Amino acid sequence: DATRTVVTLDGPAGAGKSTTAREVARRLGYRYLDSGALYRALTFALLEEGVDEAVWGDLDREALDALGVTVAPVEGTLELGHRGRVLGDELRTPQVTARVSAVARLPAVRRWLLRHQQALGRHGRLVTDGRDMGTVVFPEAGTKVFLQADLDERARRRLLDQGVRAPGARERQQAAEKLAARDHADMSRETSPLRPADDAVVLDTTALDFEEQVEAVVALARRVDPEAGRRR
Ligand code: CDP
Ligand code: CDP
Repeated sequence: DATRTVVTLDGPAGAGKSTTAREVARRLGYRYLDSGALYRALTFALLEEGVDEAVWGDLDREALDALGVTVAPVEGTLELGHRGRVLGDELRTPQVTARVSAVARLPAVRRWLLRHQQALGRHGRLVTDGRDMGTVVFPEAGTKVFLQADLDERARRRLLDQGVRAPGARERQQAAEKLAARDHADMSRETSPLRPADDAVVLDTTALDFEEQVEAVVALARRVDPEAGRRR
């Protein structure tokens, strides 16, 4: 089964999933899927189209089709668009980040996105990160990792990514509160909540450096596919 060579990284916001997944994919010569970007694209479209949040719960497949979001396989990953516009930085604005968990809890949304995600992993050799990649999207994946890090450290990393090198205590506190609120929403929803798969390796990255955590995941993946990323 080809999905044995799928590598999943799940975990809370700011644990290091996407940067790790991207580098692991590069070293293994696999494709990379950022599943969070899919939820962000739908959130962007709902805000852009001015769909009242009061009716988000009523969205069905047809309504989601009509939002104008496009998901196209391009160069081994998925290119996201909205009515002809390719989405990049638009996906990571504070407005989208603040609402994305409210969109991701909707069962119709999760069903709508499932087929796109599974299609990309059908032939294996994929690294993907998100919240339910090991539990729901690729239950047969041969390498499952759950990344964790202390909340305060995750807030510090997030602020650093935003160019804030020396945050004040208050700023750090606010960033931590936002992450904690999103984690809580993601863990407590009914459909596909954030949790480690029973067969996931839990990796706490609080005290790891980036290279160590990348190599740890690469080593796990090579137990399944020993030659991945090596010259043959
Ligand atoms: O990068 P960051 O950790 O901030 O978030 P992300 O991976 O871009 O995911 C954004 C949001 O999408 C999460 O907070 C979840 O609500 C949702 N998500 C999900 O429900 N399932 C996934 N597989 C990926 C993301
Ligand atoms: O995708 P997720 O929200 O889990 O995290 P991310 O967007 O990959 O951001 C994590 C940030 O922490 C990145 O800037 C990483 O370079 C950094 N970092 C890390 O991932 N692991 C460490 N051991 C140290 C720093």
